[in-house]
Amino acid sequence: MTWLITGGAGYIGAHVVRAMTTANEHVVVLDDLSAGVADRLPADVPLVAGSSLDATLLKRVLSEHAVTGIVHLAARKQVGESVAEPARYYQENVGGLATLLDAAAGAGVERFVFSSSAAVYGNPDVDLITEDAPCAPVNPYGETKLAGEWLVRAAGRAHGMATTCLRYFNVAGAAEPALADTGVYNIVPMVLDRLTRGEAPRIFGDDYPTPDGTCVRDYIHVADLAEAHLAATRRLSSATSAGDLTLNIGRGEGVSVRELITLIGEVTGDTTPALVEPRRPGDAPRAVASAARAARELDWRARRGVREMVESAWQGWLLHHPAAARR
Ligand SMILES: NC(=O)c1ccc[n+]([C@@H]2O[C@H](COP(=O)([O-])OP(=O)(O)OC[C@H]3O[C@@H](n4cnc5c(N)ncnc54)[C@H](O)[C@@H]3O)[C@@H](O)[C@H]2O)c1
Repeated sequence: MTWLITGGAGYIGAHVVRAMTTANEHVVVLDDLSAGVADRLPADVPLVAGSSLDATLLKRVLSEHAVTGIVHLAARKQVGESVAEPARYYQENVGGLATLLDAAAGAGVERFVFSSSAAVYGNPDVDLITEDAPCAPVNPYGETKLAGEWLVRAAGRAHGMATTCLRYFNVAGAAEPALADTGVYNIVPMVLDRLTRGEAPRIFGDDYPTPDGTCVRDYIHVADLAEAHLAATRRLSSATSAGDLTLNIGRGEGVSVRELITLIGEVTGDTTPALVEPRRPGDAPRAVASAARAARELDWRARRGVREMVESAWQGWLLHHPAAARR
């Protein structure tokens, strides 16, 4: 079997490639390198530089590499940008997926894993979010992920493709420093960035109905997330796994923004007190996964805790921002 990993030169994609090649799976990467970094990939993994919107290229890659399964991570992922440029987000995230699914059906690909997001839920008012919670995304990014799930399931039914949609919660950490997240869009890099520049970390709202008043989230180590992909591809490869599956990928444990910032202070040695600013529109007070279905269906559980996420993210940050070490 050969798995095509789209977006495989990105932060999460490179971890998926690492987990799959370590498990002796055969992979090929397609990435337009708009946010990806070729150096994240082992030298013996073929990288095709190109877009999921390029039907001709996709057809060639699927045939030349005899691809039998796809893990589709390639997407735009910045919520604010999706609000400013919704058409571009629908074009890249939904249009790119439609083009890929069409090519996959044409090439007889029978297995498909899709990177979805907890953003599909919007703001559910529940303690633990199960996969059956209503989906009501509150921004175009989340909408493209929900529309993407619908499309994946419909294409699976139409073409006899077994599909799995993985709804990631808040991803953090690195399996090794070189694979760390180099973007500053998620909370851990955002806090590290502020500290590196000598600025206080920011908390958006401390008057939420949560134990310390700050928002509560479910953080998942990217290495655990990568192992969940490996488990999903293995399940799809087994004879008994037809149909579609939708799974939360989280730890099922809430950590508040204040707790996380305190932990980052302990790990970095920079305990600059956080600034409390007004709430941001659209932030849910609490978003924590029920991780039960993934445990049952994939026989997978997150093994790494939040301290390990922060420590590994900090090591990666130091590699990419040597100035941070001198502060
Ligand atoms: N990082 C998170 O916290 C998080 C949470 C939930 C879901 N996700 C999803 O996980 C996936 C990977 O996210 P990431 O954090 O690794 O982001 P990333 O930006 O590091 O990786 C995305 C990769 O896809 C590539 N790419 C983008 N558009 C492409 C296209 N049209 N054709 C080919 N390549 C393209 C980029 O160059 C990049 O390498 C995305 O689908 C994202 O929506 C991420």
